[in-house]
Amino acid sequence: MPKKFAVLGNPIVHSQSPAIHQAFAAQFGIKLSYERILVPLDQLAEVLHQFQKNGGQGVNITVPFKIEAFPLIANKTARATKAGAINTIAFNHNACLGDNTDGIGLLRDLTQNHELDLTDQRILILGAGGATKGILQALLSAKPASITIANRTLITAEKLVADFSDLGHCSACNLNQIPDQPFDLIINATSAGVKGELLALAEPIVNNSICYDLAYGSAAQPFLNWAKQGGAINYYDGLGMLVEQAAEAFYIWHQLMPATKPVIKLLRAKL
Ligand code: ATR
Repeated sequence: MPKKFAVLGNPIVHSQSPAIHQAFAAQFGIKLSYERILVPLDQLAEVLHQFQKNGGQGVNITVPFKIEAFPLIANKTARATKAGAINTIAFNHNACLGDNTDGIGLLRDLTQNHELDLTDQRILILGAGGATKGILQALLSAKPASITIANRTLITAEKLVADFSDLGHCSACNLNQIPDQPFDLIINATSAGVKGELLALAEPIVNNSICYDLAYGSAAQPFLNWAKQGGAINYYDGLGMLVEQAAEAFYIWHQLMPATKPVIKLLRAKL
């Protein structure tokens, strides 16, 4: 019997996780099943329970359930606890462990795939929602000079600063009052692109920065166009992060670290 895995979300039809995990599994000659499960908005706990009962070995949790999954899993890693969100669960007999691999996924994409050194860099993050919360710990572990969190709703950014300042220098500002200072790296972690909404931003801040959108495909395009027009040195979408966070989940489940570059290439050609 192949081991059983799944990604749980709503919507879920466009998830690339099955293709990514099958490509990883093929590298090791592992046979597994990995399905997409569309979870009704009020049924996360039931679906999780059922999947485990039916012999499931692990799941990925995606939008909009990462925060909702958090209180459902008693046993969590330190990084999931700090993020307040879970994107990976390993089921082992009756025990289960909740983890969050988004932060390490982003960090590996930035530092290994794009060969950026974040030490002493000035980072600007746009958005202060669950996505930002998931990446802050990993980014701060790279010892940047500072992280500025700019959000439409200032108080949400201030709350994150209060929660993460023990790990490094963070500050908050309003999205339309970003300090007029250079940033080495600008990360779009808002959900504006995913929702097809406009992210109203001033032009000058992007000059000579590297820009990164956590989303990929058409959802990342408006921000990447803005980056290009504003004079960014380079700009990247979040496809590499998607594959890297999956690689870390694969490692948690199989204790094997897959090669990610060929899988990023494969997906890039497909999208
Ligand atoms: P996620 O889990 O994807 O981070 P979220 O928790 O709903 O989703 O957070 C979405 C983030 O994108 C928030 O920072 C939100 O700003 P607010 O806190 O002011 O709501 C930001 N966001 C969403 N749409 C936006 C838009 N059109 N312009 C600017 N910011 C936007």
